[in-house]
Amino acid sequence: MASSSPSSMSPPMIRMELHSLNREKLFNSLRNHLTSCARPLQGFVLLQGGEEQTRHCTDHLELFRQESYFAYLFGVEEPGFYGTIDIASGKSMLFIPRLPADYAVWMGEIQPPSHFQEKYKVTQVFYTDEIKEVLVDQYQATGAALLFLLHGLNTDSNKYFKPAEFQGIEKFQTDLSTLHPILTECRVIKSDLELALIQYANDISSEAHVEVMRKTKVGMKEYQLESMFLHHTYMYGGCRHCSYTCICATGDNSAVLHYGHAAAPNDKTLQEGDMALLDMGAEYHFYGSDITCSFPVNGKFTRDQSLLYTAVLDAHDAVISAMKPGVSWVDMHKLAERVILESLKKGNLLVGDVDKMMAERLGAVFMPHGLGHLLGIDTHDPGGYLKGAKRPKEPGLSSLRTSRKLLKGMVITVEPGCYFIDALLLPALKSPAVSEFFNRVEINRFRPFGGVRIESDVCVTSIGCINMSKCPRKIEEIEAVMAGAPWPIEKTTFLSGNGQV
Ligand code: GLY
Ligand code: MN
Ligand code: MN
Repeated sequence: MASSSPSSMSPPMIRMELHSLNREKLFNSLRNHLTSCARPLQGFVLLQGGEEQTRHCTDHLELFRQESYFAYLFGVEEPGFYGTIDIASGKSMLFIPRLPADYAVWMGEIQPPSHFQEKYKVTQVFYTDEIKEVLVDQYQATGAALLFLLHGLNTDSNKYFKPAEFQGIEKFQTDLSTLHPILTECRVIKSDLELALIQYANDISSEAHVEVMRKTKVGMKEYQLESMFLHHTYMYGGCRHCSYTCICATGDNSAVLHYGHAAAPNDKTLQEGDMALLDMGAEYHFYGSDITCSFPVNGKFTRDQSLLYTAVLDAHDAVISAMKPGVSWVDMHKLAERVILESLKKGNLLVGDVDKMMAERLGAVFMPHGLGHLLGIDTHDPGGYLKGAKRPKEPGLSSLRTSRKLLKGMVITVEPGCYFIDALLLPALKSPAVSEFFNRVEINRFRPFGGVRIESDVCVTSIGCINMSKCPRKIEEIEAVMAGAPWPIEKTTFLSGNGQV
């Protein structure tokens, strides 16, 4: 992008074919599963979409964002819908709410079923008060009285997905266990059309990160960095939603992993000598990005900042260089830990044998979160632990949102970090198991530092992976961009290589 132009992008066209291919993938997977269990190829997948919420007990409507499984299968933007897929024929149906007449006054024209059939490219559209009759008619015609409902555990939140409900559901047999693992696995491997949207969310978010990097100055407020990011992705990218609340941490706030929430609202003033850790990602047509850039707010790395930043960048690059199908994500987490511990040892913050540090799980003191997570319609996309898979128990590894082996078509974040978090560091300094590894003078000097995280969204290919996030990563790239150089920097000046494989 040229530095004089705010953006070189325009939002891509949204293709409903993406969702019909998602439905087809589920249809085939579910039928294969039923065949393998010698069960009849009959029944309906039935999902209930999200409901609009008001702010607490008021009548103020919160901006609706569709529930993610429903978005995956139907691409529907509006609240209050149901959707079905016929297991025998693949036919899809949407059920829309019958809206009151004054909807037309407050919310806009009331559209007929034909409008939604055309918009969402499904076979048929009815009203939600017709679900029972329509499904009874269908099963009398086909003999299929079985509904496959979505019910299962989200292994990140530990919450259960609530299955669909409608008046008259008791007339049907319901299966609550088959659909969730199969549909979740469909979401794990991205199609080309899904990858194109994730790439777009990455492109506009990377561009916005660069814009923020360029405009950051000592004396600004953290929320001004957040505001610049949101403005860029909405104004030039058409991204009304973010994948998550922006984390705009500077100075010691960057040791707070999920800073930016209501009680810590990105409101510190940027000080000379601070590092910024900006974790921000836009979402476009449900598909998201999750990108973190760390840089000095005055545009020039100090020796200490370079040491920490390089430790994390080396871990980020080592992981991306090793990623390919079949590689274990637990091994990638350990690789990142090892690179960081070796760098801290080289930088004189740690002393002793790195193998022993690894055995004592010292890495978790500096990187308590997992190396990364699946990404898609949800920032923490589901499918990290297959049914029966055990979450590792060791410090650090227990935070991993997946312990799976990589597969072609997965999109996963690579987000190593190194933080000085008193709540972890002070007990570790006293712990008989790990206290011997610390150079206390240096560790104490670094305690107010905060932390560094570098996060890219990476797609696994048949032979390796592709880094979808295109931000300045090398120290010289960041300093050049902050000093006004265009991004990407001309290849004659710097070799590319921020992990592209
Ligand atoms: N931004 C949340 C995360 O990195 O997982
Ligand atoms: Mn993030
Ligand atoms: Mn992340």
